[in-house]
Amino acid sequence: MSGFYVTTPLYYVNDRPHIGHAYTTIAADVLARWNRMQGKSTHFLTGTDEHGQKVYRAALKRNLSAQEHVDQMVVPFQKLWNKLNIQYDDFIRTTEKRHTSVVQALLQDLFEKGDIYEHHYVGWYSTSAERFWTEKDLVDGKCPESGLDVEWIEEKNYFFRMSKYEQNIRQWISDHPDSIQPEYRKNEILGYLNSKDVGDLCISRPKERLPWGIPLPFDENFVTYVWFDALLNYVTAVGFHPDPTQRSAEFSNRWPASVQLLGKDILTTHTIYWWSILFAAGLTPPEKIYAHGWWTMENQKMSKSIGNVVDPNLLIESFGVDPVRFFLMREIPFGGDGNFSFERFKTRYNDDLANDLGNLLHRTLSMTTKWLGPHIPKL
Ligand code: ME8
Ligand code: MG
Repeated sequence: MSGFYVTTPLYYVNDRPHIGHAYTTIAADVLARWNRMQGKSTHFLTGTDEHGQKVYRAALKRNLSAQEHVDQMVVPFQKLWNKLNIQYDDFIRTTEKRHTSVVQALLQDLFEKGDIYEHHYVGWYSTSAERFWTEKDLVDGKCPESGLDVEWIEEKNYFFRMSKYEQNIRQWISDHPDSIQPEYRKNEILGYLNSKDVGDLCISRPKERLPWGIPLPFDENFVTYVWFDALLNYVTAVGFHPDPTQRSAEFSNRWPASVQLLGKDILTTHTIYWWSILFAAGLTPPEKIYAHGWWTMENQKMSKSIGNVVDPNLLIESFGVDPVRFFLMREIPFGGDGNFSFERFKTRYNDDLANDLGNLLHRTLSMTTKWLGPHIPKL
């Protein structure tokens, strides 16, 4: 891998972006800009996750077709990234043909190889997390991730033989100790692998329950479930195809990605789910998964599902783009959680930008003017 390939998660288009989404995207932009400055061939991918129950329900609520809904809801994301001067190289939507056709080709390939099989399933489903939980996972009968309601569901589904790749994942982590960062997140994943059976992954939903998804090529009554669909964007966007003769020339220069940035909410899906899918597809994991912490509001995760969000547009209008980028990168040590408050924003703005940096610039200019006759000498 000669160049630098960085990704953000694909954000759900069930609602507008908030500063949590801006955070990951700005961090990826900072990395991409820095690598471009080093002269590396840099590729920065972001985009939107447009299928699934959460997005489908949001569309129903607005009395729109799912397609109309996603076509409208992708706009605030793209507009915000433009406003924030995010220099991405590619923006992928999971409803695009370049993505859906390759997901279908891989599904077919894995079905034929026996890595995807049919099974009757029962469990608690959380729409907010778009996944099944076991009875033991629930906290006071609610989704352990969002604290929201879960539903009991019994149905036939298709499963991906994730358990088959557990050993590959362990081996990979042991051979590549920096592949999951920060270190304490790697330990979380090792703890998870040691405490639970990885099990197989339910990758389908019956169309009657969820009509909005990529149809399974081998069973038209089912669509594939968000994670199997969305995670694959990181390779479909750079020209992957299960048939090596149909891959783009660019693919082998881009994959494996250098860094995949995400929040700690989706660390398990981006290691255990994602890497097993990669192994099954004959690919290797990314060089690095970096899971940062959460912006909170009054110590609760800022989240669209909870509704306690700060709109970055308002911050930009009040303070300007660069102070917003600066604040988000400066305020919390990368990796940890941090509480958002307007007080903290003002303090950073006044102390770091106006006083420290502003003062430095002012003094430098005054001295240059005074002693160098307003010219900067060549070194
Ligand atoms: O999970 N603090 O999408 P999503 C920091 N579609 N970062 C935050 C945050 C917060 N409070 N809230 C969100 C999904 N983020 C899936 C991903 S990937 C193939 C599919 C950021 O809209 C952070 O990067 O829920 C987090 O992981 C991501 O947004 C989740 O966005
Ligand atoms: Mg989420």
